Amino acid sequence: MTGPKVVLVGPMGVGKTTVGELLSERLGVSFRDTDADIVAAQGREISDIFVDEGEAYFRALEKAAVAAALTEHDGILALGGGAVLDESTRALLAEHPVVCLSMDVEEAVQRTGLNQARPLLAVNPRKQWRELMESRRPLYAEVARAVVPTDGRTPDEVAQAVLDAL
Ligand code: S3P
Repeated sequence: MTGPKVVLVGPMGVGKTTVGELLSERLGVSFRDTDADIVAAQGREISDIFVDEGEAYFRALEKAAVAAALTEHDGILALGGGAVLDESTRALLAEHPVVCLSMDVEEAVQRTGLNQARPLLAVNPRKQWRELMESRRPLYAEVARAVVPTDGRTPDEVAQAVLDAL
């Protein structure tokens, strides 16, 4: 097994799952999402894991889920928005065709700001978004072979742009 054909990274709400599913249909390969892997294995939602166990516990689960998916999966893989926080995960990602999806802050607030299920943006979405992106942008840039903006584009257009970028 050679690993995923495309790995999608980028902030929460940017459309990794939607675009990943489209890419898997287009390429005729399967789609996997590490957030979904964690929810399935834990039998509870990510927001509940954050509340019950704390972020560090979730990050440890995420690190293991990403490492497993990178070896086991040969289709399209989407990672949670914070997966790149882990240094050893970033080192693993260097070996794979990683594309980062991006969006500007207003689009982000529209897509995620009212979604209380996203624990990292629940209090002050605009401010928290800016802070998150300031710290994470360099990490996305470090692992991604290309950054594909999603603003004003349909999921189909983004999927095409991802293929063009690789
Ligand atoms: C997170 C993003 C979420 C999920 C968790 C933490 C983050 O995934 O893993 O809520 O730190 O950015 P999505 O990017 O799939 O929403």
